[in-house]
Amino acid sequence: MTLGEVLRRATGHLEQTSETARLDAELLLAHALERSRIELYTDLERPLNEAELTRYRELVSRRSRSEPIAYILGEWGFRRLTLDCDPRALIPRPETEIVVERCLERLRGLDRPRVLDVGTGTGAIALAIADEHPGARVTGIDASAEALALARENAARTGIAVELLEHDLRLGLPGGPYDLVASNPPYVAPAELDTLMPDVRDYEPHVALVGEGLTDAIAVAARAVLRPGGWLVLEVGDGRAQSVRARLEELEYEEARTTADLTGRERVVEGRA
Ligand SMILES: C[S@@+](CC[C@H](N)C(=O)[O-])C[C@H]1O[C@@H](n2cnc3c(N)ncnc32)[C@H](O)[C@@H]1O
Repeated sequence: MTLGEVLRRATGHLEQTSETARLDAELLLAHALERSRIELYTDLERPLNEAELTRYRELVSRRSRSEPIAYILGEWGFRRLTLDCDPRALIPRPETEIVVERCLERLRGLDRPRVLDVGTGTGAIALAIADEHPGARVTGIDASAEALALARENAARTGIAVELLEHDLRLGLPGGPYDLVASNPPYVAPAELDTLMPDVRDYEPHVALVGEGLTDAIAVAARAVLRPGGWLVLEVGDGRAQSVRARLEELEYEEARTTADLTGRERVVEGRA
């Protein structure tokens, strides 16, 4: 079978379980052959050998059981970075790139701002801010030692210096004063867990997904560690932006506003201490 035929068949197979079947099929074939996706297109008529075919079948079979593509590939892109990804932490999402965008906007013009990323997971937000705002002094905290180990690997992989601490946010937030506190906290209610897609529910760490009251705990605790005029930037669940914004106003954050993601859903809320 040629690359082109194999891609067609794998796409058909993955369509039963994935909304991005063709893309998945290409990413997995590129991974199996250690090529880029673009290189596949210059080689569509080439037949695969038996070893390549076996390797590819194994990857497609994992994906057809709903294992997330990022975990199969072992890495995923986030803004300008490629980060190691595995079940120790949540896979960084496109909407979280907007959190980083809002943070960079709020940090603009500051010389050596201090930033705290609460629930850092892979380190995505912390590393992207340190990468894109040179001079930023960024601390990432997480209650999960496993996630922190992965974040440390990502700091080493990218060569970006950030401070990473094991810390439970329910004890308050460490250090400060900060110019900005960012967080994408777990915000799925326990009762909602069953409604999530199998890719998410069955593979991503529940400590990264499920949480009640954590957004509120961060908003309260951030008041104690933000310098006057510093910013809080939060990712929120779909449909929660207005209530979180109202809560920030109640906590006397100023200039509270929301930002929509690429699909028009309000997913980021920010306010000024
Ligand atoms: C939704 S994930 C976000 C990961 C990463 N910031 C991102 O956006 O891709 C939430 C993170 O919060 C961490 N977490 C959950 N409960 C926590 C707590 N009580 N204190 C600190 N971190 C916590 C989880 O381990 C997880 O890494």
